[in-house]
Amino acid sequence: MAIRYELIKTCKQSGARLGRLHTPHGVIETPIFMPVGTQATVKAMTPEELKDMNAQIILSNTYHLYLRPGHKLIEKAGGLHKFMNWDRPILTDSGGFQVFSLGPLRKIREEGVEFRSHLDGSKHFISPEIAVEIQNSLGSDIMMAFDECAPYPADYDYVKNSLERTTRWAKRCKDAHKNTDQQALFGIIQGGMYKDLRKQSAEEIIGLDFPGYSVGGLSVGEPKDIMYDVLEYTTPLMPKDKPRYLMGVGSPDDLIEGVIRGIDMFDCVLPSRIGRNGTAMTSRGKVVIKNASHTESFEPLDTECGCYTCKNYSKAYLRHLFKANEILGLRLLTNHNLHFLLNLMEEVRQAIREDRLLDYRKDFFEKYGYNL
Ligand code: GUN
Ligand code: ZN
Repeated sequence: MAIRYELIKTCKQSGARLGRLHTPHGVIETPIFMPVGTQATVKAMTPEELKDMNAQIILSNTYHLYLRPGHKLIEKAGGLHKFMNWDRPILTDSGGFQVFSLGPLRKIREEGVEFRSHLDGSKHFISPEIAVEIQNSLGSDIMMAFDECAPYPADYDYVKNSLERTTRWAKRCKDAHKNTDQQALFGIIQGGMYKDLRKQSAEEIIGLDFPGYSVGGLSVGEPKDIMYDVLEYTTPLMPKDKPRYLMGVGSPDDLIEGVIRGIDMFDCVLPSRIGRNGTAMTSRGKVVIKNASHTESFEPLDTECGCYTCKNYSKAYLRHLFKANEILGLRLLTNHNLHFLLNLMEEVRQAIREDRLLDYRKDFFEKYGYNL
């Protein structure tokens, strides 16, 4: 077995889980946020900078690396860890989600998905077996099964057919994956916003016996109360002795609400993407750095933040960098936002240890507001 999940305790106040995930590249403390490094780089950050902010695991993408530079090249380089100089754990998404986001550029068949590259329009085909082969070449610690993330809204029959195909694909992924000592393959629960379909998918996927499970198909445009409701229904169906991963979720409020509903792992492009656009997440809500109100503000982005950016630079300086289109500006905001979410998760873990996560949530939201 490549990974082992150790449940350390559940918060007496909230039921949230504190755990450890043992992987071939080290131990991860959960609940955890995973910065996204789609193209074998967490945009604008070096591995040293990621380690300085205590990033324990990053995510990368099968679809992008298959198209460019090609998984065979990465295999020749000695695998993804060596290629990108990152020696901590890596999780790779299967390509399912990215291929389905291509819209009219793709065609779904039982065998797999035919699609055109978003780079040059060339034709490609990814099946469950190919998604596993690519991830085997990359050498990620955690691989994801090839799935379909149904759009929102989608009608009942569409979602039912889609989740049943996702189950058949999950079985094919499992059969194709031989390297189980080095790489763990996670199953993905789908079922859209329909509870009975979530139940069906959970039973089918868990029946295949994966070392970890994710909840997919959420945060796809549905209102937050629906997402929380579906999640609250789904996590109790999942085994307690295996890690639970909520895919594509990463706003501060969703992380806290997800942990309270029993989730251990999250990933999202949000902190890095909005950082490059000049928006910072702070303990007092979001800061749009180009706003004129920051022109003469010689305070840090967040007076409570211990990141490299907040220790050394003022909002006035950061605003200047963004106004002048200087590359350092987006590096510093990316650094702050990732640090902010990683630190938030450390605080969440501490609150679980001390059985006070509901109190922590209340304090957090009183300061933060709901503006992201
Ligand atoms: N990322 C966000 N949502 C999903 C999903 O449903 N499936 C996959 N494979 N990746 C995701
Ligand atoms: Zn900071």
